[in-house]
Amino acid sequence: MRDILQELEDRRAVARMGGGAKRIDAQHAKGKLTARERIDLLLDEGSFEEFDTFVTHRCTDFGMEQNQPPGDGVVTGWGTINGRMVYVFSQDFTVFGGSLSETHAQKIVKIMDMAMQNGAPVIGINDSGGARIQEGVASLAGYAEVFQRNIMASGVVPQISVIMGPCAGGAVYSPAMTDFIFMVKDSSYMFVTGPDVVKTVTNEVVTAEELGGASTHTRKSSVADGAFDNDVEALAEVRRLVDFLPLNNRKTVPRRPFFDDVKRLDESLDTLIPDNTNTPYDMKELILKLADEGDFYEIQEDFAKNIITGFVRLEGSTVGVVANQPMVLAGCLDIDSARKAARFVRFCDAFEIPILTLVDVPGFLPGTGQELGGVIKHGAKLLFAYGEATVPKVTVITRKAYGGAYDVMASKHLRGDFNYAWPTAEIAVMGAKGATEIIHRADLGDAVKIAVHTKDYEDRFATPFVAAERGFIDEVIMPHSTRKRVCRAFASLRGKSLQNPWKKHDNIPL
Ligand code: HXC
Repeated sequence: MRDILQELEDRRAVARMGGGAKRIDAQHAKGKLTARERIDLLLDEGSFEEFDTFVTHRCTDFGMEQNQPPGDGVVTGWGTINGRMVYVFSQDFTVFGGSLSETHAQKIVKIMDMAMQNGAPVIGINDSGGARIQEGVASLAGYAEVFQRNIMASGVVPQISVIMGPCAGGAVYSPAMTDFIFMVKDSSYMFVTGPDVVKTVTNEVVTAEELGGASTHTRKSSVADGAFDNDVEALAEVRRLVDFLPLNNRKTVPRRPFFDDVKRLDESLDTLIPDNTNTPYDMKELILKLADEGDFYEIQEDFAKNIITGFVRLEGSTVGVVANQPMVLAGCLDIDSARKAARFVRFCDAFEIPILTLVDVPGFLPGTGQELGGVIKHGAKLLFAYGEATVPKVTVITRKAYGGAYDVMASKHLRGDFNYAWPTAEIAVMGAKGATEIIHRADLGDAVKIAVHTKDYEDRFATPFVAAERGFIDEVIMPHSTRKRVCRAFASLRGKSLQNPWKKHDNIPL
């Protein structure tokens, strides 16, 4: 009996060594942790329950039957993050470069199916040379099985991808269909075709880092939502994110103990808006002052900085924040910011996360670059996302809300539940100067007359009161009371029930 028990221990010990000490050392030498070390950091201590430790591949080509490491290059199972259940897979680069075989895929599929059945997020740690070359089409089939599950799980359980090594070829499409992608600077990359193929086909010379490193994907392509300095930091931040998210689309957002006063007034907000309407200010200051304990988890911090997206807690409950940033491009909406915010709004709506929108937007960015790039369709994404969202929506206009951008930014007309404005708000079709030059074109040569017309327009329209007179703004509020008003608004909306008409699915302008 003792021998049999010992055999289990021995087999486990072999499995834990993955591709062996030499390859583990090589992994460490690259500044990377092993698949198991990553899981240990991601999950609560001792909470990991492993599946399929002893699964081996079934390939008999190229002498593969001589080498069948238990686990087949991926560690899978479930555990907890601050006591809440998550499923996880972590590719083991020390075993065939973490490449995906038929059985490797089956292990991932198993935990994805369980996550769907039991309603818990899936976190995938990617570190892989892609399709297991020796297995050919069996490996491609495995990928497609994973893709299909990514699609079915979308909007049902949160899916998070952490890229901690290579992720190339068709392999990138599994993370691409998850809700959030995080990368590690200098040790991870994602691309559909690598630098060598690029050189052959297009003659471009590019490094892997330039083509698909963390900086490229967080700043330029927006494929990734965040980049971190090393594995340890990335995994700690994933834990922090999971704390904000519901476990599935049938659960409400998590409610955490909070130590901040809901009625906290902040007098400094009364002077946040500069006297000159064209002077920028930092919208993040408002977000931090509204949030419980000033805790803000930003998503896509380095991309389209003219809009800010992320999570805060109000009265301990998660709220998604979308806010124009006057510090960048004067807070204009453009292709990138509309796409970024639309995707975030849709995530929140899919998972019943209420949305707070902070508005200071002078309009859509003009120019041929925008028009030829399809700003019409991209801008419509955000409009569509807000309009279809049925979650509680609270909007605060701090300063400008001009033109179509006023409508887009969770206005009353897009079923905003609470639409507040500060006294400094300017809600109009366009800025005073532009408006005057159009409606008083005949006086354009007379500077004095134009100045008078501009002043008239400002007095009448560059305020929140025209909109408030019509009920488009529910109340004009004092800046210092914003946290209190917003918290009360969301508290009153906890029982909100709103359904869109039945349809197979909508046809959002992609
Ligand atoms: C089988 C693989 C492998 C793969 C790496 N290995 N990739 N084994 N299938 N795809 C093995 C290596 O043979 C080596 O084994 C070990 O993993 C580590 O690889 P190294 O090359 O020594 O590591 P490194 O120098 O760090 O380079 C990593 C790498 C490189 C850049 C990922 O290995 C590489 O280019 N691999 C091939 C990538 C590729 O073309 N994959 C197919 C893409 S197409 P030993 O025994 O020496 O330790 C694809 C299609 C998906 O993925 C389609 C989905 C729809």
